[in-house]
Amino acid sequence: MLIKSKQAIAESEITDSLVFTQRRQIIKALGLSTIGLSTGINNVFANSQASEKLMPTSADIFKNYTNYYEFSFNKEDSTELAKNFPTNPWQLEISGEVENPLKLNLEDVLKSQSIQEYVYRFRCVEGWSMVVPWMGFSLASLLKLSKPLASANFVKFTSVFNPELMPNQLKSNVLTWPYVEGLRIDEATHPLAILAVGAYGNSLPKQNGAPLRLVVPWKYGFKSIKAIVKIELLKRAPVTSWNVAAPNEYGFYANVNPSVPHPRWSQHSERQLGTGFFSARRETELFNGYGEQVASLYKDMDLRHFF
Ligand code: MTE
Repeated sequence: MLIKSKQAIAESEITDSLVFTQRRQIIKALGLSTIGLSTGINNVFANSQASEKLMPTSADIFKNYTNYYEFSFNKEDSTELAKNFPTNPWQLEISGEVENPLKLNLEDVLKSQSIQEYVYRFRCVEGWSMVVPWMGFSLASLLKLSKPLASANFVKFTSVFNPELMPNQLKSNVLTWPYVEGLRIDEATHPLAILAVGAYGNSLPKQNGAPLRLVVPWKYGFKSIKAIVKIELLKRAPVTSWNVAAPNEYGFYANVNPSVPHPRWSQHSERQLGTGFFSARRETELFNGYGEQVASLYKDMDLRHFF
């Protein structure tokens, strides 16, 4: 895995002083005084297509073009609809096949982790993509606190359930609520899998899944579940929301793969948001370009079958 040090970051990317300011902003935004901020920046590059320079998509697009179906099926509406959604205080439970089940306040989670910036490609199964500078921490490092047992083969993530404030949890049966996602344990403990608490140097906007969301950059965006309240380590694969809703469209793995078309969207190429209406589409890469880092997780698997 190529993790660039601060010194090696291209000039087009974020400067040292800006990053420092951003870190201070995120501490302030999260209302915390002492979270363990490390000095590193994980600018983990994808393998090819001259992706050496991952230029972040504008923050404005990131914040106002969202998929948050608890609030709306319209990409522009969740910004306003989620505005008053309470995200503080917030509790996270870690349970299941663990030696040390935990109930943590968000503040305790943050104190226990070192927050870094991870600049990742983000690819939605609908055929668009962004580059997002997330602020977050390693999921593996958090799971370790719960001391997973050898029987923990899968990880289930559950979003908050609050039908009074999330209108579609009452109105829509497109998905079963709360939103649930899952990973295999080796995927969940891969260094690229993070929990994000911020982006663009600030705390995470509510419509982007505040206060805590998953980011798994080699998988389609729907795996990156928002507003997580529960993480369970399980013996068997969890039943996930999209897989139940349309099993022929949304597999459990959901690895970005240009050779496995979605029934409604070819996955050959993607529209890079913010690069202009007439700019060329980007050819989609297997594992979203992170194959060098993650392909070994799937070495004996037929990815057409396990899509
Ligand atoms: N998590 C929850 N709880 N609810 C959702 O509707 N949408 C998913 C994923 N996580 C979603 C979710 C989908 S389909 C995508 S593409 C990404 O979040 C979108 O993340 P973004 O809105 O921050 O770009």
